[in-house]
Amino acid sequence: MSVLGVYNPLNIDVDHGDGVYLYSKEGTRYLDFTSGIGVTSLGHSHPSLVSALKTQAEKIWHCSNLFKIESQQLVADRIVKNSFAHSVFFCNSGTEAIEAGIKVIRKFFNDKKIKKSKIICANNAFHGRTYAAISASGKSKLTEGFEPLLTGFKQVEFNKTSEILKNLDEHTAAIMIETVQGEGGITPAEKKYLRDVQKIASDNDILLFFDEVQCGVGRTGKFLATEWVKELQPNLVSIAKGIGGGFPLGALLLDKKTSKSMSLGSHGSTFGGNPLAMAVANEVLNFVLNEDFLDHVREVGYNLRKLLKSEIVKKFPKLVSGVRGIGLMIGLEALENNEILIKSLINQKLLTVKAGQNVIRMLPPLILEMKHVDEAISKIDKAFSNF
Ligand SMILES: Cc1ncc(COP(=O)(O)O)c(C=O)c1O
Repeated sequence: MSVLGVYNPLNIDVDHGDGVYLYSKEGTRYLDFTSGIGVTSLGHSHPSLVSALKTQAEKIWHCSNLFKIESQQLVADRIVKNSFAHSVFFCNSGTEAIEAGIKVIRKFFNDKKIKKSKIICANNAFHGRTYAAISASGKSKLTEGFEPLLTGFKQVEFNKTSEILKNLDEHTAAIMIETVQGEGGITPAEKKYLRDVQKIASDNDILLFFDEVQCGVGRTGKFLATEWVKELQPNLVSIAKGIGGGFPLGALLLDKKTSKSMSLGSHGSTFGGNPLAMAVANEVLNFVLNEDFLDHVREVGYNLRKLLKSEIVKKFPKLVSGVRGIGLMIGLEALENNEILIKSLINQKLLTVKAGQNVIRMLPPLILEMKHVDEAISKIDKAFSNF
């Protein structure tokens, strides 16, 4: 009872992890399709990550940004070389990356003495738990009791261009959306919507901020999910979760013009970009920047979605109605209560996580192989056959 009661953990005493599997203290083996909510992108205890962390731990853990951290420069250089970004700010979590992005948006226009601070966001979004993040997500369970929120955010229906246009005015500074909504129910932004958003931004001098805390870093089969639409020119992208492979790390990626508005002392973090996090991130990049690895994510993800449709949705039409998602960010649309179905999967030793819109969320490690897909399908089949 000494841990603040804000969580409702499963009754599984975690002992250790190995690849796609998680083991309880009693020795039960679970196929882990949660990846710690999309974090352990290379699976549990990946030998390369363990080795990178151990080697770094023996050299130096922390020195702060008072000092030059060579590995921070290296990781930032690699991200810049492989994305739209011109610079990278490192922090420790997704919500901090969001916070940084919102500060950049405001600073960008304040510096130019342009009175624009309104940010158009999406209904059903999740951006984290800081004040800026919950204010951006809009009124919900997240905000209850925490008012007053930060002002300047307007939530509109996701994937509906006309709703953005209706709410656009001369004070609109940015559009901020998840490229694939995660907590909200695994809903990808439609390609046409993203092209429309780009046009609106270009025509109206509005910044584009994409939250890829959950969908970035290879999860959809591209390093960034925004890469699926080649016309898209993000100004800001937040990443976290997967980039640390389990080590707490977040980052804000900035394009050239927004980078310029952040000057010496305008933002910072004691732990952001520390040597331990950078050693692990550099190793994660060795995988997620590799086109063959991303190809693998796309292929296994496609096969998993295909088998979910042909073997599960078809066979259990009273329990599930469809499959959504992209790459290895997958949602099984439940008709029965998703929590009940998730419990039945746990009984078969398959771990998944709930999402909005009654979705069963699957975020397996990106190293997933076809034999694990077959194992998962067989577990789901057994679980659902018991209804
Ligand atoms: C899209 C998105 N943004 C932001 C966050 C917040 O990240 P963190 O929990 O690391 O602060 C999350 C967490 O689930 C997320 O899914």
